[in-house]
Formats: sequence, structure tokens, C-alpha cells
Amino acid sequence: MADVDIKGLAKRFGETAALEDVSLSVADGEFCVLVGPSGCGKTTLLRIIAGLETETEGSLSIGGADAQALAPARRGIAMVFQSYALYPHMTAYRNMSFGLKFQKVSRPDIDERVRSVAEMLGISDLLHRKPAELSGGQRQRVAIGRAIVRNPKVFLFDEPLSNLDAALRATTRLEIARLHKALGATMIYVTHDQAEAMTLADKMVVMKDGRIEQIGTPLEVYRKPANLFVAGFLGHPKINIVTGAIAAEYGAASIGLRPEHLTLSPSGKGYAARVVHVEPLGSEAHVHLRSDALGPLILRAPSDFSVSGDGDLHVTFERTRVLLFDENGNAIN
Ligand SMILES: Nc1ncnc2c1ncn2[C@@H]1O[C@H](COP(=O)(O)OP(=O)(O)OP(=O)(O)O)[C@@H](O)[C@H]1O
Ligand SMILES: [Mg+2]
Repeated sequence: MADVDIKGLAKRFGETAALEDVSLSVADGEFCVLVGPSGCGKTTLLRIIAGLETETEGSLSIGGADAQALAPARRGIAMVFQSYALYPHMTAYRNMSFGLKFQKVSRPDIDERVRSVAEMLGISDLLHRKPAELSGGQRQRVAIGRAIVRNPKVFLFDEPLSNLDAALRATTRLEIARLHKALGATMIYVTHDQAEAMTLADKMVVMKDGRIEQIGTPLEVYRKPANLFVAGFLGHPKINIVTGAIAAEYGAASIGLRPEHLTLSPSGKGYAARVVHVEPLGSEAHVHLRSDALGPLILRAPSDFSVSGDGDLHVTFERTRVLLFDENGNAIN
């Protein structure tokens, strides 16, 4: 197993700067999740680590060794792509074993490895099938299995679950967490799914426009976002941002209020607000409000929330929950 150390990495495709000054250390055995809007450079970063793409500037070491001198096959890395990239004409067994032939692993050893990994992933019965005869979730397991049998030092995952339906994603997410524990491998994982990012990551990296905006544990990043972008990127429903006089009271250009930190006050204390719309989600309700003092707001309420009377109510929040931002959108601590 190995750590990954990236310093001052930049990648340009002609005029496009895909990555700018990216520095990131992923410790041996750590689960690092990359998140950020489409086009922010996540795949490019993985491809550079894998050696499928060459950086324009910066350094990269894997397990303490300079990776730039190493061909992709010698980096000890396995990548699982969003598309799975399985060979359509090969059975699941051959898809998993194919790469091992080139690693000079003996035939009985290959068989042993493929079968034990298949067992671990619950696909033992499917090894004779070709990808077209497998469901999306099963294909995705074969692709992960193919990565595991190679016994890599570092796993790179590029949105491996995005083709799965919500229920399958949730169970596979648990399996990946279990896999990480069992293998103790270093993993770098790209996802658009916040629940995946929050639950899987030891270390979360939020990117935007080719740059890293913040690195921290998921809870650190959620609770203490470095700037307005990170605050708005994480959390569903989205954080409420309030500017103007109320923000000025806190000595800030804007303040952030998470929807779960707003409370409806029956006593008439707090800020007057009107209910504009209610989204009942079963487990909870998202209440859209309009307040003259605070502007538009979203609040998380219990599932039995209902509007009484004309929908006028009051909103309160605890001072300690308020996130403060300066005129540049950076957090004030
Ligand atoms: N081979 C390429 N040639 C030119 N530009 C590229 C190439 N690959 C990526 N880019 C550009 O680099 C930027 C980063 O792309 P990248 O695929 O890394 O984004 P991403 O964060 O993975 O996005 P997504 O979430 O949509 O997968 C984008 O602007 C993209 O258009
Ligand atoms: Mg991508």
C-alpha cells in the first residue's frame, strides 16, 4: 500500500487550464473523496495519478517514489471507470483475470485470486457470463473485482456508482466502505453524490475550476466551509445565504444558515416569514419561506409540517450556528 503526494500540479489542454496549483497528500490507507462541479478537473487529476495523462507542471509521488518516471503499468494503481470499461467479448472471469497474465502471475494463483475476490463481491455465480448478460450493478462489481485482483497499492474510482439506481447505490456504498476496511488500501474516489462523499471519505477534497477550494474531514468541510462556494456546494437543501443588514449585525458581508439550523418559533419571536411552498418528502418536509429581513429561506421541518392560518410565522436560529463570510466570500473565523 502507498501514500500519494501531489505538489503544485497543473494541467493544460491547449488553452484550457484543467488543473491549477493542485497540492494534495493522501496517506497510506486513506479514503480520499474528490467532489466538485462538472468540468472542475476531477477525472483529469485521477488520470494524471494513473499515468494516463501527463501533467504540465508539478510533482507526483506514490509510496515515496517519483511516479513521473514510472509507466502507468508500473505505478501499482488500478482505476475503476464510470463506464466500467469491461471487454464485451470476454466473460466476467476473463475480464478479471486478463490483466494478471501480464503481471506474470501463475495460472493457479490467478484462479485462486479471481475466485476469492468474486466470493468477496458476491459474483461467484456470474463468472461465466459476458458483460451484456450482466446487470449494471453486476458489471460494476466485475469492474471493481478486476481492480482488486491486481492487488494495487492505490485504487482510483471515477464515479463508479453513477450508473446504478438509488437503492443499489446505497447498498454498494456500504460495500465499498467495507472493502476499504478489509483491504486497507489507499483509495481516491470521485463522486457527484454527497451522501457517498460524506459517508465514505476520511478526507474530502472540494474542487472548482481546476483548483482545490478546501480539504478536510467531511464534517469539517460541512460545518466550517472555507468559503461561500464550498458552503453552497455541500448540503441539501442548499445553505441559506443572507446579506445586508442582518449580515452586518454579525460583522459579515454575508451569513450562512443551514436549513436544519432554522427553527419555526410559535411564540412570535424571531424574524417574520411567510410560507411560499412546502415539499413533503415523507421523512421530513422542506419549507420554502420568504422573510422581509432575511430574504428567501429553506428550512427542514418534521414530516408532519402543515401551514396553519395564512402561513405567517417566525424563524429563529442560534447565534453559534451562523457561518460568517467576508466581502470576498471567504469564511471569517
Ligand atoms: N483530452 C482533453 N482535451 C481537452 N480538454 C480536456 C480534455 N480532458 C478534459 N478536458 C477539459 O478539462 C477540464 C476538466 O475536465 P475533467 O474531465 O477533469 O472534469 P471532471 O471534474 O471530471 O468533470 P465531470 O464531473 O463532468 O466528469 C474540462 O474543462 C474539460 O473540458
Ligand atoms: Mg469526470
